[in-house]
Amino acid sequence: MTISPNKQQRPPAEQLYADELARLKKSDRDPKPPGWQLSMKAVRRFIMGDKDIRTKIVCAPSLIERAMVTLASNRALLLVGEPGTAKSLLSELLASAICGSSLLTIQGSAATTEDQIKYGWNYALLLAEGPSPRALVPSALYRAMQEGRIVRFEEITRCPAEVQDGLLSILSERLLMVPELPGENAVFAAPGFNLIATANTRDRGVNDMSAALKRRFSFETVFPIADYDQELALVQSEVARLLAGDGLKQQPSPEVLEVLVTTFRELRQGVDREGAASERLSTVVSTAEAVSVAYSIALRGHYLRGDAGQPADIVEALAGAAAKDNPDDLKKIRRYIENKASKRKGDHWRDFHAARHLLP
Ligand SMILES: Nc1ncnc2c1ncn2[C@@H]1O[C@H](COP(=O)(O)OP(=O)(O)OP(=O)(O)O)[C@@H](O)[C@H]1O
Ligand SMILES: [Mg+2]
Repeated sequence: MTISPNKQQRPPAEQLYADELARLKKSDRDPKPPGWQLSMKAVRRFIMGDKDIRTKIVCAPSLIERAMVTLASNRALLLVGEPGTAKSLLSELLASAICGSSLLTIQGSAATTEDQIKYGWNYALLLAEGPSPRALVPSALYRAMQEGRIVRFEEITRCPAEVQDGLLSILSERLLMVPELPGENAVFAAPGFNLIATANTRDRGVNDMSAALKRRFSFETVFPIADYDQELALVQSEVARLLAGDGLKQQPSPEVLEVLVTTFRELRQGVDREGAASERLSTVVSTAEAVSVAYSIALRGHYLRGDAGQPADIVEALAGAAAKDNPDDLKKIRRYIENKASKRKGDHWRDFHAARHLLP
């Protein structure tokens, strides 16, 4: 069932940025790898942005370049990194720009089965007709091979190792056999087919990839945003976009965002902006979490009080977003507000410090 993009909570990138993709396609004169709908230069521009195109990912251009070269080759791409560093977003943007769709996706979990990776059967038809192409239910990977598109495999290392190994022959021979079907029972990958997997470093060791599978991938590590100004600008623009989606114009003030982004960075990095050591949380306090906290602060301000969000709202949100179920982290946050926030200048830092009693 299709719902118009402005009624969807989160339209996929190819719908959200359909205008930009159409413009890039129209003016694209550069060589395209077989099966791609845009050249590498246009894909890079779509993701990195410029004066006419929105910047969608903050990272080194070389990461995007290496990722694209891998996808045009006979190796699959694995994006690894800390949670909330935009691995899934990068894979979505690459897929939508390269093949026009980011929806061919397998969500990896402990419950992922080989059927979900390869193909399943419509049992009513299977019983009535026996194995036939009509009774076969193709997986996202199967369709990507047939259509020459990119398939995304989210959180691959959460899948059981034997299910992951089902990819081995597909990635090396670029061929998927369906032994149950009589006659022509092989699906050959069309030009343009490839796979982007994502994996979280926090899940490392859950189901590590076999050495054989690792050889079929190029690994790219995605790091948190290093530069404060870039992270602040990203949080600001993402929150503006989320609020605009709800029809809200007011945004958190630059001072509130400064407290939020600084606090998140210092709790993540273990160094404060003056260069002194500070305590690091064991829970992940990523840019993605900073964006969602900034968004909830704005919603809280707007719907409960009619303002744009206050520094005290950050304290209120910190326990749920950054300490989760770890009491040690809660203590660290308390000490951070006591020791660091109290020394900073400005009303916004003072209000943040004054609201420390809101921590549970
Ligand atoms: N470098 C970045 N560039 C752009 N957005 C970023 C960046 N880092 C974090 N974000 C924010 O994080 C959100 C995306 O997080 P995403 O779900 O893609 O992360 P992830 O690395 O896949 O996390 P997880 O490991 O938990 O699956 C984006 O929508 C954006 O708001
Ligand atoms: Mg992800």
